[in-house]
Amino acid sequence: MKKLTAIVLATAFSAGIAMGAVAADVYTYQAKNGNVTFDHTMHAGKLDCAKCHTGTPAKIEINRDFAHGIGCKGCHEEMKAGPTRCNECHKR
Ligand code: HEC
Ligand code: HEC
Ligand code: HEC
Repeated sequence: MKKLTAIVLATAFSAGIAMGAVAADVYTYQAKNGNVTFDHTMHAGKLDCAKCHTGTPAKIEINRDFAHGIGCKGCHEEMKAGPTRCNECHKR
């Protein structure tokens, strides 16, 4: 638990410097058809950590197949919430 707190604080701290705001915890995935934004703070506020993390929450490697499957899109389909169309995630 001590380690997790340190990671979360470190993330909030560096994001705060980069964005000029404290609560910014947004990831951007580069894609040639338009970059994809993932608002971790919003997701973590609405969903149980265990919906996405197993064990102690830590970094999850996102790749194309995972993102188009359960990593992102699959959950949106299942929950009937969140974007499922290409250009709702991929923004140019
Ligand atoms: C729920 C969000 C989401 C939706 C909907 C989605 N994608 Fe993606 N897609 C992603 C993410 C996130 C990545 C980046 C994964 C990574 O970092 O490797 C990605 C990666 C890709 C890539 C690889 C780009 C590159 O530069 O390597 C292509 C191509 C792509 N998507 C096409 C599509 C198409 C076509 C659709 C619609 C049929 C679609 N995506 C729908 C989230 C989404
Ligand atoms: C909708 C899915 C989802 C939910 C819900 C979620 N997370 Fe995450 N979390 C992710 C993803 C995806 C990443 C990896 C982002 C990246 O690095 O590309 C991540 C990364 C993290 C990291 C690592 C940060 C870093 O960069 O080292 C921590 C810690 C974390 N989450 C904690 C939590 C906690 C605590 C909760 C519940 C309050 C939570 N997460 C809820 C998807 C989620
Ligand atoms: C476990 C389920 C789950 C996973 C996994 C998940 N999402 Fe979502 N996402 C949701 C839900 C539920 C909403 C709708 C929240 C609302 O509007 O109330 C949402 C909304 C969104 C939105 C629209 C709101 C906004 O922030 O602009 C985007 C974009 C999004 N998700 C991107 C992603 C990406 C990218 C990933 C993968 C890295 C991802 N999501 C993974 C459940 C999930």
